[in-house]
Amino acid sequence: MTAIDTGPHAASAPQDRSALGFPAGFRWGTATAAYQIEGAAREDGRGPSIWDTFSRTPGKVHNGDTGDIAADHYHRMPQDVALMKKLGVTDYRFSIAWPRIQPTGRGPALTKGLDFYRRLADELLDAGIRPVATLYHWDLPQELEDAGGWPRRETADRFAEYAAVTAEALGDRVTTWTTLNEPWCAAFLGYAEGVHAPGRTDPAAALRAAHHLNLAHGSATRALRAALSPSAEISLTLNLHAVRPLTGSEADLDAVRRIDALGNRVFLDPVFHGRLPDDLVADTAGLTDWSFVRDGDLGVISAPVDSLGINYYAPTVVAAGSHEAPSPWPGAGRHVRFVPLSGPRTAMDWPVDADGLFELLVRLRDELPGTALLVTENGAAYDDYADPEGDVHDPQRVAYLHAHLAAVHRALAAGADVRGYFVWSLLDNFEWAYGYGKRFGIVHVDFASQRRTLKDSARWYAEAAARNAVPP
Ligand code: NOJ
Repeated sequence: MTAIDTGPHAASAPQDRSALGFPAGFRWGTATAAYQIEGAAREDGRGPSIWDTFSRTPGKVHNGDTGDIAADHYHRMPQDVALMKKLGVTDYRFSIAWPRIQPTGRGPALTKGLDFYRRLADELLDAGIRPVATLYHWDLPQELEDAGGWPRRETADRFAEYAAVTAEALGDRVTTWTTLNEPWCAAFLGYAEGVHAPGRTDPAAALRAAHHLNLAHGSATRALRAALSPSAEISLTLNLHAVRPLTGSEADLDAVRRIDALGNRVFLDPVFHGRLPDDLVADTAGLTDWSFVRDGDLGVISAPVDSLGINYYAPTVVAAGSHEAPSPWPGAGRHVRFVPLSGPRTAMDWPVDADGLFELLVRLRDELPGTALLVTENGAAYDDYADPEGDVHDPQRVAYLHAHLAAVHRALAAGADVRGYFVWSLLDNFEWAYGYGKRFGIVHVDFASQRRTLKDSARWYAEAAARNAVPP
């Protein structure tokens, strides 16, 4: 391993005058999620989550993989924080496993569960890294799913209680909080398409889930404000869809409108404008009358946040047409066709297209003036392996990160208020339905030995963070 400069990054000037320099204080982070890295699925009183159940259901996850051991981060946390210190990142975005805090999703908080995250936060703070905690990255306690899951309103109440006890316990150390990660996936992949836990294929239930996730976000925001100091930063992370029409025809533009409503405005409008999109309600009228939205809900949901997190991987191209059920798009099956993009693709078969990130950031600059933006996830899976010398060369990931950071730089120059960027992911990990088959880490994990090896992309990212700049 080469030595990495861990000196002060934020203020250091780019050495190459043509380098793309970022504003002073720009946050260079890495991101992970509890179920994807922690393992220790039955330790210290942790209860089962919907992902434990789903991953054990034959045929749901590639190769029958589960998060039982994952990257064993629960036992290797100090070493993993030391790795981040070596990389010189400023921020670390992790998630708290709800079933470690409340094994059944209700009741008093488990001290042992809280202690793990206390220790994690302390290690980070000692290393000069800001902890950025996400309260929900998809591991709903199984008992709450058995009681109805996200389509049931009470799940939002339980979430607000969990947010309160967790923030009360950790708020002295953790001051940056995100309520939900990608509620679109939780609602639509989990309850409509069924490719994520809990694996239901009920489009109407998915729409209810989306509303109750919004409500959970708003109620939790209120609980966090009450528990945390006034300077705490509260956010929500969305996987917004950069959706483009195949042609400029009215019919293709209408397909864009539908996907924008179901993929973006279903969250953006309630959270930032306190309203439900009229066209979404009209498009889904055959599935639901939305009577589960009660008076006052939209006021709770639109409690102000301090920043918006955006997870971006690839754009979506649509045209008028149809696609088959089960799909994650309730009501859109007979109106929208998804058009594959040509060009380079990652191991996920996702197209590489950094312009989509620029498009999203500029859109948010215009639609949400005054809202600070963070790219809370961006990265790529490739089929990485350690060569005989023990090195992991991942030039495609370096190129991907470079192109997307350049897109962030362009968006900043165009006036988007982007405060930071978090590469997904620090470590190779459990990639949900793809199991361990897809590697997103900038650090390679040999899952047999749990050995960690910096990939070339980790060294590249460390240099970018140290210089607060990327090459032109
Ligand atoms: C978004 C999710 O938040 C994360 O858990 C996942 O691994 C990445 N996308 C890559 O699919």
